[in-house]
Amino acid sequence: MIRAIKGTKDILPEEVGAWQRVESAARALFARYGCREIRTPIFEETQLFARGIGAETDIVSKEMYTFADRDESSLTLRPEATAGIVRAVIEHNLMNEDPALRVYALGPMFRRERPQKGRYRQFHQVDVEIFGVAAPSVDVEVIQIALGFLEAAGLPDYELVLNSVGDAACRPAYVETLRAALRANLATLGPDSQRRAETNPLRVLDSKAPEEQALIESLPKISEHLCDACREHFAEVRRQLDLFAIPYRVDHRLVRGLDYYTRTTFEVTSGALGAQNSVLGGGRYDGLVKDLGGPDLTGIGFALGLERLVMILGAPKAERRCDVFLALLAPAGRDKALLLQRELRAAGLAVLTDHEGRGLKSQMKRADKLQSRFVALLGDDELAKNVWTVRDMAGSSQETIEDARIAAYLKEKANG
Ligand code: HAM
Repeated sequence: MIRAIKGTKDILPEEVGAWQRVESAARALFARYGCREIRTPIFEETQLFARGIGAETDIVSKEMYTFADRDESSLTLRPEATAGIVRAVIEHNLMNEDPALRVYALGPMFRRERPQKGRYRQFHQVDVEIFGVAAPSVDVEVIQIALGFLEAAGLPDYELVLNSVGDAACRPAYVETLRAALRANLATLGPDSQRRAETNPLRVLDSKAPEEQALIESLPKISEHLCDACREHFAEVRRQLDLFAIPYRVDHRLVRGLDYYTRTTFEVTSGALGAQNSVLGGGRYDGLVKDLGGPDLTGIGFALGLERLVMILGAPKAERRCDVFLALLAPAGRDKALLLQRELRAAGLAVLTDHEGRGLKSQMKRADKLQSRFVALLGDDELAKNVWTVRDMAGSSQETIEDARIAAYLKEKANG
């Protein structure tokens, strides 16, 4: 038997309602913040991600689905949405039309990570990006969009974690300080962190290895190495979060797994998730548009993992799939039933019938399973008298309705 690929997941009909609910909550909320949807391709030139996300990141160095196209160009299934959106913004000069562009995207992303609870190789992100505004109030606005979405989706508890990773003016010196401190303690580090001490020292701060924790806590902190502009920016972000009474925790180790960040970074975690506890993550990326060949345009955004959100929200109760079930018990009444079915559907009702001549019990069971509000029965008796028997499934009351009135009666009842 052919099975779904490891790390991918079918979203089955009984689960899809939960997805559609959070997706429409996202669309409704993002529109209130002036964001419009953008849809970019699922595959891009590999270069885009290598340059955008950073060649030394885990994502680019070991998690991308990269393949040679038939013309030998190197293509990659997008591991995240930001780089593709930035490419589209540059390619179509979207900032000319709107210098404070706000967009969102929904869709599948691909990373070849080790699958575990909440971690997939194809997963879905909801992504928001705002370009062209350097003011710290936009950082807080983006955080409000993220948290507003979690509230709208009904996520019970979560924690906002915040940091500033500095910018081109102050981070290089901090990275050197960090590298020096790591070099002096190489023996305490495992092989991964030893390598990162050279290639990408910030990522060592992310390490979960128990034997490295004491050293990491003693390392120089970025907060002590921010330039004045970054320090003021971060202080203003924090002041405004307080203004809106948004609780948060500063974690100086929150460096995130993508290299494009500058200044504010944030994540929202949930205790309900286990090891993969990040529901969403984001931050500023003021140099990315320029790095990818565009104008010097600031950017900030976040992405949320839909599998994780839906998992925490849990299975919603089964939905009503039918307003009226036509229980056909007299084969001679088939045409009548099919015509009524068409008429009621045209009036906007969800209507199903039995096509296989099943018995009363089996048809009632099916109507129950579909949570049908009404069952309209057509048996030999009804057929002879030109009537239908209509059962209200909630009240279990029963009425006899003449053929001439049945459509109008059901439309009124089901819409009422
Ligand atoms: P990220 O932290 O790599 O950031 O991913 C954002 C979210 O996607 C995570 O918090 C998680 O919920 C979900 N996610 C990531 N990998 C997986 C996986 N393998 N399985 C299931 N869910 C996953 C970004 O992607 C940035 N582009 C966010 C951003 C947008 N920054 C600025 N703008």
